[in-house]
Amino acid sequence: MEIERIQLQKHGDSRGMLVALEQDRNVPFEIRRVYFLFATTSGVHRGQHAHRHLNQLAVTVRGSVTFLLDDGSGPVEVVMNDPSQGLLLGSMVWREMYDFSDDCVLMVLADQLYDPADYITDYAIFLREIRANVIPAEIAAWHGR
Ligand code: TYD
Repeated sequence: MEIERIQLQKHGDSRGMLVALEQDRNVPFEIRRVYFLFATTSGVHRGQHAHRHLNQLAVTVRGSVTFLLDDGSGPVEVVMNDPSQGLLLGSMVWREMYDFSDDCVLMVLADQLYDPADYITDYAIFLREIRANVIPAEIAAWHGR
C-alpha cells in the first residue's frame, strides 16, 4: 500500500524548535479530535483495528514507534521517530503500533469525534469489508487527495 507521510515545517532558532499543525494547510482534514498515547507498557501492541470512516494523522512528538499498516494488500511497517513527520492513517486501513520507546509520546489528530461504532476490531471482518468494496468512493477520495 502507499504510505503517505507529511513533512511538517520546523521553525527552529537558537531557542529551539516548533512545529505547527493547521487544518487544511498541512493537515488534510477538519481537526475534530486530538489524543495522545504515552507511558506505553514495554512490549505492548496497540491499535489492532481499522476505522470505517475516520481519517487521522499521527506524529511521534517524542521517541519512536513502529506502525504496521495494511489496506488489504498486505502489511507494511513504518518506523516513526521524527516530530516533524506526520503519518496519514486513512479509513479502511488496518493498523497496529508496537516497539514503543519508553519515552514515546504519539499524538494523533482525527477528523471525527471518538466513536466505538466506527472501529473494525476483527481482521477477518476488515478483509471481508475491503473485498466487498463496502466504501470504494471514500477510499478513492482519500487516495485522490
Ligand atoms: P483504544 O482505541 O483501545 O487505543 P489503541 O487503539 O491505541 O490501542 O483506546 C483505549 C481507550 O481509550 C479505550 O477505553 C477507548 C478510549 N478512547 C477514548 O475515550 N477516546 C479516544 O479518542 C480514543 C482514541 C480512545
